[in-house]
Amino acid sequence: MPIKKNNYILALDQGTTGTRAVVFNHNTRRVITSATTLTPITPHQGWQEQNPTDIWESVQSVIGDALINAGISANEIEAIGIASQHETTIVWNRETGQPIYNAISWASLQSQKIAKKYELAGYADIIHEKTGLPINPYFSATKIRWILDNVPHAAELAQAGKLAFGTVDSWLVWQLTNGEQHVTDSSNASRTMLYNIHTQKWDQELLDIFDIPASMLPEVHSSSEVIAKTSPMHFFGNAVPIASLIGDQNAALIGQLAIHNGDIKATYGAGTFLLMNTGDEPISSKHNLTTTIAYQIGDQTTYALDGAVFSAGTALQWLHNNLQLIENQVDSWHAADASTNHDEIYMVPAFNGLGAPYWNPQARGSVLGLTRSTTKNDFIKATLQSIAYQTTDILNIMHQEAHVKPTSLHADGSVSRNPYLMQFQANIGNLPIQRAMDEDTTAMGTAFLAGLATGYWQSFDELEGQILNGRQFEPSIDDDTRKSLLKGWHAAVAATEIFAE
Ligand code: G3P
Repeated sequence: MPIKKNNYILALDQGTTGTRAVVFNHNTRRVITSATTLTPITPHQGWQEQNPTDIWESVQSVIGDALINAGISANEIEAIGIASQHETTIVWNRETGQPIYNAISWASLQSQKIAKKYELAGYADIIHEKTGLPINPYFSATKIRWILDNVPHAAELAQAGKLAFGTVDSWLVWQLTNGEQHVTDSSNASRTMLYNIHTQKWDQELLDIFDIPASMLPEVHSSSEVIAKTSPMHFFGNAVPIASLIGDQNAALIGQLAIHNGDIKATYGAGTFLLMNTGDEPISSKHNLTTTIAYQIGDQTTYALDGAVFSAGTALQWLHNNLQLIENQVDSWHAADASTNHDEIYMVPAFNGLGAPYWNPQARGSVLGLTRSTTKNDFIKATLQSIAYQTTDILNIMHQEAHVKPTSLHADGSVSRNPYLMQFQANIGNLPIQRAMDEDTTAMGTAFLAGLATGYWQSFDELEGQILNGRQFEPSIDDDTRKSLLKGWHAAVAATEIFAE
């Protein structure tokens, strides 16, 4: 197909374990990907932080590498989109531009006691009603409170209007605009526990509950508009439009073009993140999923039911780093294929507690069903299967609560490259899996939104005609087998509860 335009969209995908810059051409094809990894800081058991300056430097480095290696100059970039890890909380001084503490990762449990305090004080209902979220250390509000309570003078500086809070998108735009813009989009705002997803405004009552001054908060924009331009100082002498900000998981929903009511996607990365598009209706879950803003284009807000599995790829990393059982992901696939047991071992990787639908920060991992004949391969297989079981618990609730029934699951993310996992997922979830052709679905989503905002692309229909479909996996086990496997899994999940207070 001839390429109609000579310029490009640059997408940034800033995540928990690394940063990617991906350049797309007008035919939606990836011209280049440049990636770098980031090492989390874990000062205490259960805490997870990142250095905000390292995050910014990783972005500068991947942008430079991508442009140089592709031989593209900065003035050939039509627009930039930024997809970034949700909830991760950064607080910086507006005058110096310096962070006052590390970025507290979405996965960190250091604000667990704060979350508990608000729960015991009876705020769960009002928070859920306004934000669609349960009280949990996962979301930004308790992390901001932790910083204000624990960093010397932070509370006074905040009251004096000198501190800014942002999720990673805000921090990166602040840097790219040389401190000119303090902004976010509604998908990121909806994960802070301070944003009212119905009025689509920061909620003063919630700010009062958490005692967080409104002056700390970024201005909220839609997910697809020219929000700012890069400071030439930070973009090779060019003022390029930043035309999309969006949470990384939501970006993958767009990248998969799961833009219709009832579409579901699961991104298998460090965790597994599921979103079911519910159109313009914010469905309030009765079974512990969260309600969230999927994306906003113009005045049109699209909502989603959301479920986050906290440990997926991290469980495989644990097999590699802590137990030295595998070298890489391919090993886990081969080991699972070589396992000869009948799936009777269950492993629950509740390393940071359990996310949706359990929401138990105190849960810790369990293994059930070991026998004298259990092998290393069986254990690796059980770890892989745990990713699919956790995902299935969320999928089944989505099925129950959806007003439009899902017909397949769109899968993406690095861990979805594992064919054993995808087949087991189709079997245990009893839903065909449509795996994305391109691994960079998250980057693609923010690229699409940035391109639509600047007129580089005209509509989703135009994009729909261009993206390629990947491999499909069909369910191939019977209902009785599925039920019996899920029964064993739920017994193993129940065993994690003995660690709860
Ligand atoms: O909600 C957390 C999520 O945004 C993290 O995504 O890709 O950094 O694991 P990722």
